Amino acid sequence: MLFKQIRANTRKFLRFFALIIYYGFAQYLPSQPRPGWRMSYFVRRIIVKLIFKKCGLDVIIKSKAYFGKGNSVVMGNRSQLGNNCKVESDLIMGDDVVMGPDVIIMSSAHAFEQLDVTINRQGSLPRRPVTIGNDVWIGTRVIILPGVTIGDKAVIGAASVVTKDVPPRGIAVGNPAKVIRYRGDRLTNGQDSCLRNC
Ligand SMILES: CC(C)(COP(=O)(O)OP(=O)(O)OC[C@H]1O[C@@H](n2cnc3c(N)ncnc32)[C@H](O)[C@@H]1OP(=O)(O)O)[C@@H](O)C(=O)NCCC(=O)NCCS
Repeated sequence: MLFKQIRANTRKFLRFFALIIYYGFAQYLPSQPRPGWRMSYFVRRIIVKLIFKKCGLDVIIKSKAYFGKGNSVVMGNRSQLGNNCKVESDLIMGDDVVMGPDVIIMSSAHAFEQLDVTINRQGSLPRRPVTIGNDVWIGTRVIILPGVTIGDKAVIGAASVVTKDVPPRGIAVGNPAKVIRYRGDRLTNGQDSCLRNC
């Protein structure tokens, strides 16, 4: 019991220390292609391992990625947080997720239905984590709203606002994001068969 308590406190302390190092220094280190990016990725990888709830192998955290306290972030192997992204901590991400810059992933919202109380006094709705599957590409400046699930192998087009779940392999674009086609379609209808054969 005492051992467990000591271990929990040590973990808390390390996480706190890692957050200070990350937000005070490591987040500003360069990203590819600026010189020194390899070292930066290595440093940030070690730091987030102490912060995140679960962190896979070879993750990439690009410059100025914000993830709140990070203690509810789950990141799979080889997945990325893009330059200048903003993640509200509650995020479950699979393996091999690629992320463009300036992505925003929300998990909280204000309560606002009561008309006789101002919004700033209504508190928040319960947090709803965002779930992202394996092998997903999230384009530049995408916004993902609370509770959304993005299926395996999906693609989200630049500047899209994702308000609803995206099915596996779906390529979703626009505001609100809608599926325009499915990944792999162009390979199977022969239109882009060169991609397979070249
Ligand atoms: C989503 C994306 C991959 C789609 O590629 P694609 O399947 O080749 O799509 P197409 O170019 O054939 O476009 C299909 C239709 O969707 C529209 N569309 C494509 N991307 C869109 C976007 N991001 N937002 C709104 N509409 C979009 C096109 O205008 C086209 O519309 P139309 O049929 O009315 O002419 C690509 O457009 C995109 O947004 N890439 C992200 C780039 C990026 O963020 N890079 C950062 C590096 S990590």
